[in-house]
Amino acid sequence: MKIGRNDKCWCGSGKKYKGCHMAFDNRIKDYRSRGFQVPNHQMIKTPEQIEGIRQAGRKNTMVLDYITPYVKAGANTAELDRLIEAYTREIGCIPACLGYEGYPKSVCISVDDIVCHGIPAEDYILQEGDIVNVDCTTIYNGYFGDASRMFCIGEVSEEKRKLVRVTKECLDLALENTRPWGTLGDMQYACNKHATENGYTIVREIGGHGCGVKFHEEPWVGHIGEPGTGILLVPGMTFTIEPMVNMGGPDVFQDEDDGWTIYTVDGMPSAQWEYTILVTEDGTEVLSY
Ligand code: MF3
Ligand code: CO
Ligand code: CO
Repeated sequence: MKIGRNDKCWCGSGKKYKGCHMAFDNRIKDYRSRGFQVPNHQMIKTPEQIEGIRQAGRKNTMVLDYITPYVKAGANTAELDRLIEAYTREIGCIPACLGYEGYPKSVCISVDDIVCHGIPAEDYILQEGDIVNVDCTTIYNGYFGDASRMFCIGEVSEEKRKLVRVTKECLDLALENTRPWGTLGDMQYACNKHATENGYTIVREIGGHGCGVKFHEEPWVGHIGEPGTGILLVPGMTFTIEPMVNMGGPDVFQDEDDGWTIYTVDGMPSAQWEYTILVTEDGTEVLSY
């Protein structure tokens, strides 16, 4: 659908296209003509959508803050799930994971060699020495925020603590290298470089995703790449960055029985941190952490 110069802009500002996003769209077209992969309009949020996603992101951050003191030795992960579901509803939200493609719980809790999508269970008790990822996604007024954090349970070995720290650094370096009119490869390169320099590997098959109007949107956001390659990043894009960093090799497999849990093939530990971010005119804004 072609918008005329004097038509209303697609962003919902009510302004004429020529005085609003026309120059912006032309800039994107120019990149496309130079061979760049470029975002479509679904990947570029309107100011109204951005405000909705910002609020959902804040609610999701509240959920992670809320659960933090409960993530300790002796905690039953099904109980953590119940606490998260109850709190999420109390603040006027819906847990996005519950029922998502048949997922049975409100949160993913992934310990040690579980890379992601660990399913909370009554008989799964957190132990001293575990490293644990808690991954929450919250729906508020129809918008989504998605983030995860790592927790070290009691005394954790130096090598596992280092994995957790370096993985957070990978995420923050990825964020620093996410810029408007840069490409996804810029952030992927920074992220993977830091993991590799520390002797770690990044999971290739699973990554981040556009996020905000739906749970998982385009583009897919891997964490390995080369500078200047991959999709062009422009203001208004909202997506997650969520590197899974393995202490050993990068290979993973899915549990055949539950159809969800992802493990490392070599049984070595894996860590992950996740933000939902917005690309702004001059950098980024973290929408959920
Ligand atoms: N929150 C996860 C992500 O970052 C997705 C979990 S999907 C679920 O993308 F169904 F397992 F919850
Ligand atoms: Co997540
Ligand atoms: Co995500």
